[in-house]
Amino acid sequence: MKNVALLGATGAMGQRFVQMLEGHPYFDLRLLVASSHRKGKKYGEDVHWLLGSNVPEYVRDMELHDFDPEILEREGIEVVFSALPSDVARDYEGKLRSRGFAVFSNASAYRMEKDVPIIIPEVNGEHIKLVEVQREKYGGFIVTNSNCSTAGLVMALHPLKKYGIEEVFVSTYQALSGAGYPGVPSLDIQGNVIPYIRSEEEKIRRESCKILGALDGGKIKDYHMRVIASCARVPVKDGHLESVVIKLREDVDLEEIKRSMQKMQGIPGLPSSPEKPLIVRDEVDRPQPALDAYCGGGRARGMGVVVGRFAKYGPYLRFFLLVHNTIRGGAGNAILNGEYALKMGYIG
Ligand SMILES: NC(=O)c1ccc[n+]([C@@H]2O[C@H](COP(=O)([O-])OP(=O)(O)OC[C@H]3O[C@@H](n4cnc5c(N)ncnc54)[C@H](OP(=O)(O)O)[C@@H]3O)[C@@H](O)[C@H]2O)c1
Repeated sequence: MKNVALLGATGAMGQRFVQMLEGHPYFDLRLLVASSHRKGKKYGEDVHWLLGSNVPEYVRDMELHDFDPEILEREGIEVVFSALPSDVARDYEGKLRSRGFAVFSNASAYRMEKDVPIIIPEVNGEHIKLVEVQREKYGGFIVTNSNCSTAGLVMALHPLKKYGIEEVFVSTYQALSGAGYPGVPSLDIQGNVIPYIRSEEEKIRRESCKILGALDGGKIKDYHMRVIASCARVPVKDGHLESVVIKLREDVDLEEIKRSMQKMQGIPGLPSSPEKPLIVRDEVDRPQPALDAYCGGGRARGMGVVVGRFAKYGPYLRFFLLVHNTIRGGAGNAILNGEYALKMGYIG
């Protein structure tokens, strides 16, 4: 078992980590960090719990700490999961990396750094080798996961790379939990759709090309494709729906596209990787957030991406996908990255 600290433990994403780390076979959550005004308070008494009726018992009486790398060292922490806002993450995660910690982050602060990988193990696990470049420079390392919408998109695109992806037009319908807590004011979103999410469209473009890129001599060479994203916030609690239109270099029929997606495999032996990371549905009205957000079993619940509504219009292929934004698009993928780094011998 590895001793684990969680930064940003009280936020929307931090709570998902707390829920998903309960009883984890490799990671023992020992330290919770939030803003300094909560220092010394009990997690169960101070958190505004969003995920059901009760704060999990194993964390209820744990004390909240403010950020102090010395406490992490004293407690024998080896692995850090971070659910911090990006500006704070830039400072704290960098400090922890320099002190030799293995940091698995949800924040965007380091995602586009040359030597920091954005990993979805079933898609670009080999990018984990960049950890070696960081270790040499800093002692520790940071592994990030992608922006929540990007996670679903690249999982669906990965099996189609062999046909040559030239263009991607993606329109997103993004859930409220993606905006953190308290997030979007209720009067702004009730009965409404907001066609703007700050920086999201640019993140989808840059991160997709990096994740689908190839590792080449200690650097990632971006995958060359045109990506145009249009993002909207909708009054849904969890699960980002995305409408995707792509142009492939090869002319491939729909049944072959579906078969290629269905063949995508999970990573054997990793508790948070579903056996089938992509689920193809043929019903005319799927995927839906209310029905499909928690696809995947056991520890991989919410780690599956559901695709459906395939159609072809000349050279363009259209489908919808659904990704759970705080699980595959957040905490679940970060935990999976931790499991993967452990399996590959990069921790301890
Ligand atoms: N929500 C999603 O679907 C999603 C998906 C992918 C990535 N992300 C990324 O994940 C990160 C967290 O998102 P979120 O939605 O959980 O945000 P959030 O609800 O606003 O939570 C932020 C957390 O960071 C803590 N924090 C803020 N300033 C701090 C400081 N100076 N020192 C220590 N702790 C501090 C907060 O503690 P207090 O409560 O004490 O203030 C809280 O626990 C962000 O970088 C976000 O972009 C989110």
